[in-house]
Amino acid sequence: MFENVTFKPGEESLLEDISFQIKANEMIRVEGPSGSGKSTLLRLISSLIPRTSGDIIYKDQILEEVNYQTYRKSISYVSQNPHLFGRTIRDNFELVFEAHDKAFDEKTILDYMAEFGLAHIDLDKSIHKISGGEKQRIGLIRHLIFPPAVLLLDEITSSLDEDNRHKVWDNLLAYKQKHQVSIMWVSHIQDDAVLPDRIFKIQDHTLSIERGA
Ligand SMILES: Nc1ncnc2c1ncn2[C@@H]1O[C@H](COP(=O)(O)OP(=O)(O)O)[C@@H](O)[C@H]1O
Ligand SMILES: [Mg+2]
Repeated sequence: MFENVTFKPGEESLLEDISFQIKANEMIRVEGPSGSGKSTLLRLISSLIPRTSGDIIYKDQILEEVNYQTYRKSISYVSQNPHLFGRTIRDNFELVFEAHDKAFDEKTILDYMAEFGLAHIDLDKSIHKISGGEKQRIGLIRHLIFPPAVLLLDEITSSLDEDNRHKVWDNLLAYKQKHQVSIMWVSHIQDDAVLPDRIFKIQDHTLSIERGA
């Protein structure tokens, strides 16, 4: 939950006095002109950047009182251009299991790869030899392995063709049903088939909230 959050990187506020709550298992689409602060809003929610003023409340506690690791595992930001680590795709997934103190589970990963149209890619392939669209889906899968409470998706289908865009959303909707996660997403392309419960609109540094279809 955001209470009167402002983000002021310089002289002027980019986001001013923003308040809202994300409900459990909710679908929220974020809209706004290019440069209006959509990515900034998602990064503020995931605590990747610090706000200037206002409070972020998580399960009745202000953010400063919440264990940082716990928070970051619950509120997951998936970037449009994910940064891949190490040398191979496997390295990237292994890191996720390590961060959760769990043994690497190759079957889970191969299942996700297949679902998201990446069955043709070897886990030992170099991260330098994959396309932008493949990278986006690997970046996404990293965040799905251990289900968060909220998934923040920042234009994650921007490098995909229509078929793969549909595939990604079909899987995300099934994933949401199974794991009861809230999804808040920014998309340049209208993913018509995906219906939001609410629409967050950013304009002139403020947020207005509308009910979805
Ligand atoms: N930490 C920051 N410091 C200064 N300017 C920033 C910072 N983060 C974002 N901006 C600026 O804020 C504006 C909004 O950025 P962004 O959130 O990426 O917009 P959107 O995702 O809606 O296109 C851009 O002009 C960007 O350059
Ligand atoms: Mg953006």
